[in-house]
Amino acid sequence: MTDRRPMIAGNWKMNLSLLEAASLVKSIGEGIQDQGVDVLVAPPFTALGVVKGLIEDTGILLCAQNMHWESYGAYTGEISPAMLSEVGCSHVILGHSERRSLFKETDEMIDLKANAAVESGLIPIICIGETLEEREAGETFEVLKNQLAGSLHHFMNQKRLPLSTILAYEPVWAIGTGRTATPEQAQEVHQFLRESLTESFDANTAQGIRILYGGSVKPDNIKDLISKKDIDGALVGGASLKADSFVQIIRLGE
Ligand code: PGA
Repeated sequence: MTDRRPMIAGNWKMNLSLLEAASLVKSIGEGIQDQGVDVLVAPPFTALGVVKGLIEDTGILLCAQNMHWESYGAYTGEISPAMLSEVGCSHVILGHSERRSLFKETDEMIDLKANAAVESGLIPIICIGETLEEREAGETFEVLKNQLAGSLHHFMNQKRLPLSTILAYEPVWAIGTGRTATPEQAQEVHQFLRESLTESFDANTAQGIRILYGGSVKPDNIKDLISKKDIDGALVGGASLKADSFVQIIRLGE
């Protein structure tokens, strides 16, 4: 038994108009009671303000999907950590596989971002995951270990990782494909990540950090996934865009 509180996080990606975003978050707020689960939504930047105004009494947490590591300056198109805090974000997703593959973000960049997030009081949700090719070549653990070491480089040097930090294991082959890792496959990786955290930090850190699973999470597979000892919740893409399915996932499929 651990006292890690489950978290269900919705990553809306580049979807929804302002009206749709408002309507979705209202319906989510109405659909949840205190489920004993942290609920978080990550709207596009332009909808953060609107969504913030609608979640005041719901307990829903606000998260951004990305940010830059610098505080201000000539970085056209970028958003700083302080800007996210000012609009009401408590969390920020970093290193999502779409950022890594489509926008060429590297572990070094994720490391800078993770450090900047913590310095600014934001909680990072750091994503890692292997491709299908890497899994089939038997390289899953090696790839993940390298991503972890690269993305947490600064924290590893200091031998200290804030316990609020969240990791998300998202096998690239399971994102948006309808192909979920089996609960056993996911648990195997989560356990490996916790062991790696014990080696790099200590047992207390490894046991305290929440590790979410992401990749085609749906109302009908959340229960089996969350039943696994090292799976502390889910980062949900497609199924977070409909209030019905997201609320069912928050209820852990009940
Ligand atoms: P999906 O996306 O649930 O649509 O597979 C998950 C994610 O990209 O975070």
